[in-house]
Amino acid sequence: EKGEYRHFMQKEIHEQVRALTDTLAGRVDFEEGKIRIPQLNLTTEKAKQINKIIITACGTAAHAGMVGKTYLERIARVPVEVEIASEFRYRDPIVDENTVVLAISQSGETADTLAAMELGRMRGAILWSIVNAIGSQAMRLADGYISMQTGPEIGVASTKAFTAPLVDLYMLAIVLGDMRGYLSDAERRKLVNDLRLVPSLVGECLNREDAVFEVSKALKDVQNSMYLGRGINMPIAYEGALKLKEISYIHAEGYPAGEMKHGPIALVDKEMLVLAIAPKDPWYDKMISQIEQAKARGGKVAVIATDGDTRAAEIADYVFWVPDAPWYLTPIVTVIPLQIFAYHIATLRGLDVDQPRNLAKSVTVE
Ligand code: F6R
Repeated sequence: EKGEYRHFMQKEIHEQVRALTDTLAGRVDFEEGKIRIPQLNLTTEKAKQINKIIITACGTAAHAGMVGKTYLERIARVPVEVEIASEFRYRDPIVDENTVVLAISQSGETADTLAAMELGRMRGAILWSIVNAIGSQAMRLADGYISMQTGPEIGVASTKAFTAPLVDLYMLAIVLGDMRGYLSDAERRKLVNDLRLVPSLVGECLNREDAVFEVSKALKDVQNSMYLGRGINMPIAYEGALKLKEISYIHAEGYPAGEMKHGPIALVDKEMLVLAIAPKDPWYDKMISQIEQAKARGGKVAVIATDGDTRAAEIADYVFWVPDAPWYLTPIVTVIPLQIFAYHIATLRGLDVDQPRNLAKSVTVE
């Protein structure tokens, strides 16, 4: 089943072009500049009544939700909270019948995420899910859902079930922004049209696997790493760090880069790998100054940078180049080299990436 690939994780990383092409198919009308997701069961009246969206999920799915917050706030002007499901379920959250509780889950069977949905139901919220496993609980419990078009994900480290919900959340934001009257015709058309770029941008990143492999060889013995990002790419720092720690067992932390000076920068020395996510997005200049600070303290610095960015390249010891993309779409691009990097580091260390120690694919107990 793995075909030409050594591991399911590698196969699933490479399946992302297909998965994202399928994610757009049947939902995006490029002619009209419209998105249609009938399974959401959403009326314009209801869309206008929504007062808040609480995104709830665990692990990688929660990181996707954090990117979604930027989409939903900027494009649909809805207040969004992102809540780790195991926390949300034991709080006394402020939820009413105009609040959406939106669960994101690959398996659709994660115990904490389902319990968070039940809590939303009990408080009368509108329940939505973005879910991969067809017919799973998270799909059945919801009033409306978006079905990820990734196909089954077998590798324990989630990859294609991360990028698919990013695109789903972007599309959801356009649907809501349109229904709530926050998007002009021209804005909506531009956002929809940019979706055309997604499969080829991801394909371009995958074509650069060899370059990522070279950096992986140079860095395979690091013991500590810090992933930094800001704005829409801040959750990619969390996600990149999670990928590395779960399959390579290397200590990795993700931080919003602006938090560095509030403590973590004390850890930076020549043994520390600082991995900065700095594509050309609205937070780029801030990222550059933070990369300079890490470099000045002697850290080994790797940067994810947009093609042609000589400023980033001059500071960095290692660069992962990514193609230029509209800033909303940069997380879909920047996460790919981080998935590939984690994969190669783990295999170079002789580890079984599909079955990492202590982890299960689906966490059906608390
Ligand atoms: C990380 C990973 C986990 C899952 C989390 C939620 O690579 O796979 O963090 O993302 O356990 O699982 P689902 O999406 O099935 O609810």
